[in-house]
Amino acid sequence: MNNKTLKVAFFGLGYVGLTMATSIAERDARVIGYDIDTEKVAKVNKGETPIHEPNLSTLLRRNIVKKRFFAIEDPRKAVKESEIIFITVGTPSLQDGSINLDYVKSASETIGKELRDLEDYKLIVLRSTVTPGTTCNLLKPSLEANSCRICGKDFGLAYNPEFLREGSAIKDTLHPDRLIIGEMDEKSGDALEEFYQWLYHDELPPTIRTNPDIAELIKYANNAFLAMKVSFINQVANLCQRIPNADVEVIAKGIGLDRRIGPLFLKAGLGWGGSCLPKDLRALLKFSRSKGVALPLTEATLFVNEIQPLNAVKIAEKLLGDLKDMRIAILGLSFKPGTDDVREAVSIKIVEELLRREAKIVTYDPVAMENARIVFGDRVGYSKSALECINDADCSIIITEWPEFLKIKPKDFVSRMRNPIVIDGRRLYDPEDFSSKLRYVAIGFGSKI
Ligand code: UDX
Repeated sequence: MNNKTLKVAFFGLGYVGLTMATSIAERDARVIGYDIDTEKVAKVNKGETPIHEPNLSTLLRRNIVKKRFFAIEDPRKAVKESEIIFITVGTPSLQDGSINLDYVKSASETIGKELRDLEDYKLIVLRSTVTPGTTCNLLKPSLEANSCRICGKDFGLAYNPEFLREGSAIKDTLHPDRLIIGEMDEKSGDALEEFYQWLYHDELPPTIRTNPDIAELIKYANNAFLAMKVSFINQVANLCQRIPNADVEVIAKGIGLDRRIGPLFLKAGLGWGGSCLPKDLRALLKFSRSKGVALPLTEATLFVNEIQPLNAVKIAEKLLGDLKDMRIAILGLSFKPGTDDVREAVSIKIVEELLRREAKIVTYDPVAMENARIVFGDRVGYSKSALECINDADCSIIITEWPEFLKIKPKDFVSRMRNPIVIDGRRLYDPEDFSSKLRYVAIGFGSKI
């Protein structure tokens, strides 16, 4: 790529669009972010990020001030003034779990219409998670029909899945494990590879160039495998709990050292959540069923995850009996540490189950309180700190492994709680230390209950 300033547009300023747009602007590109949400556009232009993501607000502010990045509601300007257009819109679930491609459809129609009067070659890159066939059978025909131009000749097209994790999205954008380029034609693939060479200073991560269908399926297979790994270790954890002296952490370490298995995604807990894994697994199942193919492993992965959070409630009931009017302290509401996102968070399933048993719930999370309020309203209490949350509680449940909870010592639980019982759903604390000082039950740690 030559020295002139690269011009890039993003359609959709959600998690993926905003972090990638900001990271690219930081490399001195001129980036336009298009979104239909007026409030979001205004916020971004003030340098305020609508999501909680480490380092994002500093980077965003810097690039807005330097005018390397700005958000608009005008698709014409976004398309006209950019060489590469990334589509990063959401692909939520429909009621039955299948994928909702409405936003991809409308982005393709909008971009297609704007391409109509333009002479120069643009590369369109879809990054949203979509079921196999979407790029070839929906995006390409829609772009061609709306622009009256020919894919491969007048504009380029590729599917390029992202693998960003919330909480480390900037790092994952700038240092990915690999690149998957699902190209409609060689010229499109070359153009996208050239872009990444520029972004990664000529040091490309391992790169696979393939067709869009395969690239689309790689993303689903990737998420299904990650979720399966966690559900697997959670099952081993449940078994460990029934075997005195067993500890899933040591078992995860033991099997993780086998290079065929690897150590990551073997952290046992109360289950996995978030904006991607649950919806993507459901969409994959719906898609595969539509092809007449059963995926029993993925079905089981989801099923294990449905029931895993309930372990916390069962343990509380075993220790306290009837939970009616028991004061339960919930430590951690986001679906994982480092984010304020509560979408499909395990905390929701556990709190709802406890409320059904008429327990009194008091909650605390370092950053997700605002989002949790939208879910729970005034059905639960909200504390200003972790220590305030455990005051007078009959049981504390650790649902998200926020590092700040490590500051709570056994003596704090003992002195503040009415009944010093801690259910460690994320293996945050040292079981030996805690077990010797209070009633402590940890997921995957053998105990007699
Ligand atoms: C995931 C994928 O990792 C990412 O590649 C994709 O692009 C989007 O979905 P994210 O949703 O940010 O990213 O979360 P991730 O870090 O994958 O964690 C998902 C869930 O699994 C969390 O609830 C987390 O607490 C849980 N988890 C993860 C475990 O319980 N144990 C583990 O060992 C790892």
